[in-house]
Amino acid sequence: MRTSTSAPKKRILTGDRPTGALHLGHYVGSLRNRVTLQDDYECFFIIADYQVLTDHLYETEKITQNVREIVLDYLSVGIDPKKSAIFIQSMIPEIAELTMYFSMLVSLSRVQRNPTVKDEIQTAKIKKEQVSYGFVGYPISQAADILVVRANLVPVGEDQLPHLEQTREIARTFNRIFGEVFPVPEALLGEFPRLPGIDGQKMSKSRNNAIFLKDSPEEVAKKVMRAYTDPTRIHATDPGHLEGNVVFAYLDAFCQNQEELNELKSRYKKGTIGDVKVKKRLIEILNDFLNPIRKKRKELEANSKLVEEVLTDGIEKTRREAKETLRLVRKAMHLDYSSFSVV
Ligand code: TRP
Repeated sequence: MRTSTSAPKKRILTGDRPTGALHLGHYVGSLRNRVTLQDDYECFFIIADYQVLTDHLYETEKITQNVREIVLDYLSVGIDPKKSAIFIQSMIPEIAELTMYFSMLVSLSRVQRNPTVKDEIQTAKIKKEQVSYGFVGYPISQAADILVVRANLVPVGEDQLPHLEQTREIARTFNRIFGEVFPVPEALLGEFPRLPGIDGQKMSKSRNNAIFLKDSPEEVAKKVMRAYTDPTRIHATDPGHLEGNVVFAYLDAFCQNQEELNELKSRYKKGTIGDVKVKKRLIEILNDFLNPIRKKRKELEANSKLVEEVLTDGIEKTRREAKETLRLVRKAMHLDYSSFSVV
């Protein structure tokens, strides 16, 4: 039992950009961890709308609807708004302020070396000279997301590790120059931090290869039937390969029955089971997993006020922490004008 003298809970901060609904990669990369950790940590989940501006500047009209989708995704997989604060990045002005301070602590060459940012610039097909200042700088703003609540742990997918490394450097640099204000947060990778999309590439909405948590059973079936398996295998009786095989990557992540999984693998390798059979089984497994999530989502959607209420609570709770952090930061930086009677 927790007593009043026990140490305060450590904090988690992680989140997503509101660019669309969440997919299976998000689930096994990070959402599953969030759900299991929300009893042991004080959790903050950010919906990063500033970050959407970095590469969707001409589609801002979709952001509010996407925020709503993400809140529904969170709640339907089991994030409990009574335990965890869910908030919108741009509703916490302290994040922008902290980003300004942090931007002085990072060299230009350091931001330009971030491999995830480089990869995103490639995928977005933006010319190097046209990349905005805000885009290359977003990992600094992400550090502010994390440190504004002085988080200790950040559950993320593998692509976010460079940002976490940057965050840790910023926390250390700040503490060294101005004194200890920030914890140096740790990353927590999901069990399957890099679930591929149905084409074998990184799963992402923009690559059009994702299976979404809100996909219907028919959509899931259609996508799985199209999924990339073993290109060297022509007949069901050819010995198959598991490496790089998307269907087996999904079975690894979602098949609960280890015995069945081992048997499917060994039959596939021997060539005694065809691709279609394995895919059909995967479709059943995925739909069994997704059905309760779909059902919960339907129930939640019926309450039209719910999303706004959840966000209002989350924003209020986060702002209280953010204000305290900025008070500490300004004091440490000798930018403390709290005695002025300016409102
Ligand atoms: N960059 C993350 C993504 O694209 C989203 C994000 C924004 C985030 N702020 C964060 C993740 C802070 C972890 C911590 O998925």
